[in-house]
Amino acid sequence: MINSKSSRVVIIGTGAVGSSYAFSMINQNITDEMVLIDLNKNKTEGDAMDLNHGIPFGAPTKVWAGEFSDCKYADIVVITAGAAQKPGETRLDLVEKNANIFKGIVDNVMSSGFNGIFIVATNPVDVLAYATWKFSGLPKERVIGSGTILDTARFRFLLSEYFNIDVRNIHGYIMGEHGDTELPVWSQTRIGSEPIMTYMEKYKPDGNQKELDEIFVNVRDAAYHIIERKGATHYAIAMGLARLTKAILRNEQSILTVSTLMEGEYGLKDVYIGVPAIVSQKGVERAIEIDLNDEEMKKLHHSSETLREVMKPIL
Ligand code: 2OP
Repeated sequence: MINSKSSRVVIIGTGAVGSSYAFSMINQNITDEMVLIDLNKNKTEGDAMDLNHGIPFGAPTKVWAGEFSDCKYADIVVITAGAAQKPGETRLDLVEKNANIFKGIVDNVMSSGFNGIFIVATNPVDVLAYATWKFSGLPKERVIGSGTILDTARFRFLLSEYFNIDVRNIHGYIMGEHGDTELPVWSQTRIGSEPIMTYMEKYKPDGNQKELDEIFVNVRDAAYHIIERKGATHYAIAMGLARLTKAILRNEQSILTVSTLMEGEYGLKDVYIGVPAIVSQKGVERAIEIDLNDEEMKKLHHSSETLREVMKPIL
C-alpha cells in the first residue's frame, strides 16, 4: 500500500491475461481495490460481478468495472490490452498494431492525473514498455515491462524437473528480449548455491550441455507450443504479473527479470530489455549488472540490436 491509503490497481484489457491476473490478485490478497477497464464494457461488468461473487472465498478486494478517470488514484496501472499473437506470428509482428493502441491508452491514463507505476504486459513487451515510458513522460523507474519474468520462471521450472529439485532452489535468469533472441545465463545459474555444471558433475553425471540447451529451446519456444495447442498463454504470465504487483505494493526489494530502460548498464543505451532488477515501491529501483561471459554479453547485445531495429518507428 502506497501513502497509507487503500491500494488500487487498474487493469486495462480484460482478455485472457487481464482476467487471469485479476483472478490471481483476489486469490492472493494483493490489493484493496481493483478496477477493470476494457473496450468491451459488458465483459468488464461481467468479470467484476463474477470476481466479486468469489470474494467470500478469497481476499476482501473491492472490484469494479471502471473508467480511465479511476486511474487518478491508482498506485499501479497494468496494461494487458492489445492484439495477441496468432499461431505462427512472432511477438515482434505485433509492434505497429499495438503501439497505436498504446498511444490512446497511455494518453487517457495520463489525462486522469495518474501519478503511479505502469506495468506493461502486452507484446512485444519490451517495445511497448519503451513506448509507454515515452508516451507517459514518467520517470523510467515507474514504467516496467514484464520482460523475461515468465521466461525465467519457465527456465527454473524446466530445470527443476530435469534435476528433480524444488524450483525455489533453482537460481538463474533468462535475459534480453521477451522473445526469440532471449538468452539463458548459464554462467550464473545455480542449484542451491552450487554452479549448475558443478552440481551436474557431482549429482547428475548422465546429464550434459546438449540437454541443457534443449531445455533453453523449450523455454524460448514455450509460447509457440502453448499457442499452437490452446490459442493463447495466460495463467503463468498472470501469476508473474501478480508477483510483480506484490513486490511493488509491499515494497519487497525483490530481484525479478523485468524490462527496464538501459542507460549504460551492460553497455546498452536507450532500449527497454529484460534484466534482473530490484523492484520496490519506487518501481524499478535499480537494474543489476551481473557478470556475463563474452558469449552471453554478445547475445544480449544482439537481442538489444534486434529490439532497437523494431523500435525505430517509435524512437
Ligand atoms: C508468453 O511468453 C505469449 O508472451 C507470451 O507466454
